[in-house]
Amino acid sequence: MTTVGQIIGGEYGEIYIRQKAGKTIEIGELLSVGGDVILQVHDLGYRSLMEDDDLARISGMQLEGYDDTSLMEEEIRNYINAKAKLLVHIKNGVPKIPKKLPVFFHEIKRVKEENFEFMDEPENGLYLGKMRSGSRVLDVPVYIDGKKALSHHILIPATTGRGKSNLVKVMLWNLIPKDYCGMLIIDPHDEYYGRNEIGAKDHPDAEGLVEYYSPNPPKGGYSLKLNINLLRPWDLSGIIDLTSAQTDAMYVYYEEYENEWLTYLFLSSEEEAKEHGIQETTLDVLRRKLSLAIDIHRDRGRVYCKSTIFTTQGNENMLNNIVDSIERSKKIILDTSSMPQDKELLIAGMITNRIFNRYKRYKEKGELENKPTVSVVIEEAPRVLGERAGRNVFHTIAREGRKFRVGLIAITQLSSMIPRELLANMNTKIILGNEMRSEREAIIGSVAQDLSKDSKNIASLDKGEAIVSSIFTKFAVPIKIDLFDDIAQPKKSKNLKFF
Ligand SMILES: Nc1ncnc2c1ncn2[C@@H]1O[C@H](COP(=O)(O)OP(=O)(O)OP(=O)(O)O)[C@@H](O)[C@H]1O
Ligand SMILES: [Mg+2]
Repeated sequence: MTTVGQIIGGEYGEIYIRQKAGKTIEIGELLSVGGDVILQVHDLGYRSLMEDDDLARISGMQLEGYDDTSLMEEEIRNYINAKAKLLVHIKNGVPKIPKKLPVFFHEIKRVKEENFEFMDEPENGLYLGKMRSGSRVLDVPVYIDGKKALSHHILIPATTGRGKSNLVKVMLWNLIPKDYCGMLIIDPHDEYYGRNEIGAKDHPDAEGLVEYYSPNPPKGGYSLKLNINLLRPWDLSGIIDLTSAQTDAMYVYYEEYENEWLTYLFLSSEEEAKEHGIQETTLDVLRRKLSLAIDIHRDRGRVYCKSTIFTTQGNENMLNNIVDSIERSKKIILDTSSMPQDKELLIAGMITNRIFNRYKRYKEKGELENKPTVSVVIEEAPRVLGERAGRNVFHTIAREGRKFRVGLIAITQLSSMIPRELLANMNTKIILGNEMRSEREAIIGSVAQDLSKDSKNIASLDKGEAIVSSIFTKFAVPIKIDLFDDIAQPKKSKNLKFF
């Protein structure tokens, strides 16, 4: 590769490179210094050896049509200055954090595939995309240790339309045949299964490994219906807004009636409630809130459900079945597109709670090692992780899930709404484009590598371009994510006839 520039100054973290005339250096581009050091450009600017007044005068003459204003040695006097940071130092084929500056005046070349021979596929590799230098895509696949990264949470932050869902589709597709991980994908846009287009259902191994639950499932899917006896008081905390008196009232009924606590809570008389120390108004308001959340009603001494999702009849094994499947490394997609938000989060929380409790038990019994990692995908994560969300199971998982090998894939447009402590706990961040400065700052303030100079770089990311910052990568890796439609090869139809 030809020389594109030369080091002319700067300091650690901000090296100045003079761009060679006729060459272009892009923001985000990776540059090689002698083959063993890689720099990344984070800013570009004009520089001139002439005074500002002289430049203005020359421009004035050119614009106003004066003759012969061409400049002697223009390409020597004026140039583009690229600011770059040291990204990685490769020593004996092993990537290291750079600790020294390259030689002054060292020439700079564009990176090539050969510069990344050290990037190998880890055990349980999860493919994320191809190495990217600015907008140039290199034929170098980028993997992360999926088992570790998934249990330590992954954050996918970006503004709308930058490719968050596409990334999850690609990750899911690659994870379907992998038995090191089970997944629960809460899908409020019904976009992952591929009901009407190509999706997870079309994976050659989908049969038996992908399960789809929906209130109105197509052929091959399961009907999502839960018996109200499966609900527990703790499923509701942090999901619907309850006072402590209302919460206490739920627990009183649960202690007494166990599975049937909800039914009795709705059927019991005011006198009975009073005997339990529950005020009439508390019970009234609690019933109203539960009616709204679960569509549960009382009529002529009976309790019934109007909803399409909750029922008082049958369907008592559904939660267990889902959790069993996840534990067998299956990928469960939950179509919540037709549900109001509180129901979506309630059901997602019910399943997640069961998984988490089961994995906690495995840990106590010393059986966790043999179990697959569990990953729960949640869109618009601030709904459950934000400052204003109550204490719920997603919150608990974000804080301590990794000890039990249960992790989140949290998708968000608004990282700044997630408390810093939780953001810092998400040990892998796949950062896509974001034009909001405050959002970029929230992300940059909580990443595994120093991205303090990368704000412009993140702002300039195009669709599908990302930076992976993780405690499981030696440096923040720029990638281009594949377009899902390009990689997803549908399974061959069994009815295909050959003539
Ligand atoms: N890796 C990619 N390569 C090329 N184009 C992409 C890539 N990812 C996404 N796109 C394009 O961008 C569009 C939007 O992507 P996607 O739906 O994944 O964005 P999103 O971040 O999930 O948006 P929203 O916030 O609306 O959910 C896609 O329809 C596709 O055309
Ligand atoms: Mg999306």
